[in-house]
Amino acid sequence: ARLDPAARPLAGKRAIVTSGPTHEPIDPVRYIANRSSGKQGHAIAAALAAAGAEVTLVTGPTREPDPAGVTVKHIETAREMLAGVEAALPADIAVFAAAVADWRVAEEAGQKLKKDGSGQIPSLSMTENPDILKTVSGLGGTRPSLVVGFAAETEMVVAHATEKRARKGCDWILANDVSPATGTFGGEANTIHLITGAGSEDWPKLTKKEVAEKLATRIVEHFSA
Ligand code: CTP
Ligand code: CA
Repeated sequence: ARLDPAARPLAGKRAIVTSGPTHEPIDPVRYIANRSSGKQGHAIAAALAAAGAEVTLVTGPTREPDPAGVTVKHIETAREMLAGVEAALPADIAVFAAAVADWRVAEEAGQKLKKDGSGQIPSLSMTENPDILKTVSGLGGTRPSLVVGFAAETEMVVAHATEKRARKGCDWILANDVSPATGTFGGEANTIHLITGAGSEDWPKLTKKEVAEKLATRIVEHFSA
């Protein structure tokens, strides 16, 4: 079934989407980041808004413009992303497309780290960031009825993503094959397998915009079933 955005099939539904990388500070001038472009998350926010949903996009720093018709919250760290998502609840749909940093520096230095002349090299002690997908999947009364995560995998993509779906407690996982040969990170196309409670389905190689539109179509079908 093709999605007819003119019919606004998600009108009255609220959606939260995360996108982009997070930036985790080391000191006032340095941070740890990753290569996420935000293209997939932003496209999903745009597709859900085009289908009529009221969308809040919580995004780390990207080069993508704010999608039209979407409320956009710009954050930097994983902790800020979690707070932004929690502030946007309640919602019917949550799609977590952000490449959240798994770890942050345990103690951000208040001043720029300096070479002290002795040749001593600083070592960074890390701590784990909150898992936004797992936190929202485990909510009680305010849990969105459809929680969708991504799984970036480089090998055994469906097996790892199926295990990840169970571990996170989400409803669907879009398993994205990011092995270097696919050119996914920062590129235009994604190779997706959709994992649901009913099993897995392989999608053809699609642009990120096409993935977003196909996901929006599947979400419309889910709510009209
Ligand atoms: N995610 C999140 N918060 C985190 C880490 C991940 O919300 N702190 C979300 C991502 O947005 C994605 C899903 O969890 O939707 C899976 O991310 P991924 O990095 O593939 O999974 P991890 O559990 O972090 O496992 P690993 O990186 O070790 O594969
Ligand atoms: Ca991770």
